[in-house]
Amino acid sequence: MSILVPGGAGYIGSHTVIELLNKGKEVVIIDNFSNSKPEVLEKIKQITGKDFKFYEMDYQDREKLEKVFQENKIEAVMNFAGYKAVGESVKKPIEYYMNNISGCLVVLDVMKKYNVKKFIFSSSATVYGDPETIPITEDCKTGGTTNPYGTTKLFIEQILKDAYKADNTWDICILRYFNPVGAHESGLIGEEPQGIPNNLMPYIVRVANGTLEQLSVFGNDYDTPDGTGVRDYIHVVDLAKGHISALEKLEKEGHGLFIYNLGTGTGYSVLDMVKAFEKATGKKVNYKIAPRRAGDIATCYADPKKAKEELGWYAEKTLDDMCKDSWRYIENTK
Ligand code: UFG
Repeated sequence: MSILVPGGAGYIGSHTVIELLNKGKEVVIIDNFSNSKPEVLEKIKQITGKDFKFYEMDYQDREKLEKVFQENKIEAVMNFAGYKAVGESVKKPIEYYMNNISGCLVVLDVMKKYNVKKFIFSSSATVYGDPETIPITEDCKTGGTTNPYGTTKLFIEQILKDAYKADNTWDICILRYFNPVGAHESGLIGEEPQGIPNNLMPYIVRVANGTLEQLSVFGNDYDTPDGTGVRDYIHVVDLAKGHISALEKLEKEGHGLFIYNLGTGTGYSVLDMVKAFEKATGKKVNYKIAPRRAGDIATCYADPKKAKEELGWYAEKTLDDMCKDSWRYIENTK
């Protein structure tokens, strides 16, 4: 039996494939390299010493997807094939709704046809909008997303809830990621945003290595200890391991729809991140205070208790690991 991983060559997908292979799972990756590179597949083999099946295709291509289900015994699907850039989603809403929602629906429909009912979905803390309470628990109200990317996550969560309501033989796990950062400790794979990065850590590493001149800290007048935005940064390898725990839960537990926050439970401000990065790497990060960025909230961090109690999963890596591993990867890609 294999785990099908659409988007397995991407940032979070590739780290999760490594953890699956390390657990002895058979993996089938599909990817169209729209936001990843073919070399990643070789790197995964190099890191794990294991092989997997690969199909270069768009996950929205129903005919090809059916062929994948016919040629392999698929046990479960972990879907990483969504677009994820907040700013881009505002400019290209139709592309985002099409790829993220239609793509996911094609996968679910084909799964139904081939009677594969285990599905793990990459959702995001963005579904909480401006959270009602901090730390955020899974039963906090969702909604109020501020961009099409976030809304695709919200809509897909609803689709999954409706699908489960109609047919409770589905085993669904919705994982709400907080802020993934870092890279595999080998330095062979990591995050490679296209163009100028929007996210904090990819920006920091590029200022530190001289590719970008200066970090703009978006606002220092938030209601937070130092006035800058506070987030729950989680090492991508911890996040990847959360998917293994979720899969084990679906394999053991039987039918259900489960929702978990994947975060550390600790919030760090933008300036905390700059200081931690400088300490971890000995590199200087030039920054200036800039106006707030539209759509940003002051504080967002998880209550990770439910995942710990029900999945036995918790984040183990430190902020120092996140900074060192992000830096090692960018240095390796020179
Ligand atoms: N920030 C800066 N300067 C930058 C980039 C970011 O000051 O150049 C600040 C932001 O204002 C924010 C913090 O750093 O306070 C983190 O910003 P990111 O863009 O790295 O992350 P966000 O929290 O805005 O969004 C991320 C993902 C989304 C996801 C969300 C979930 O990008 O996909 O976390 O909480 F939905």
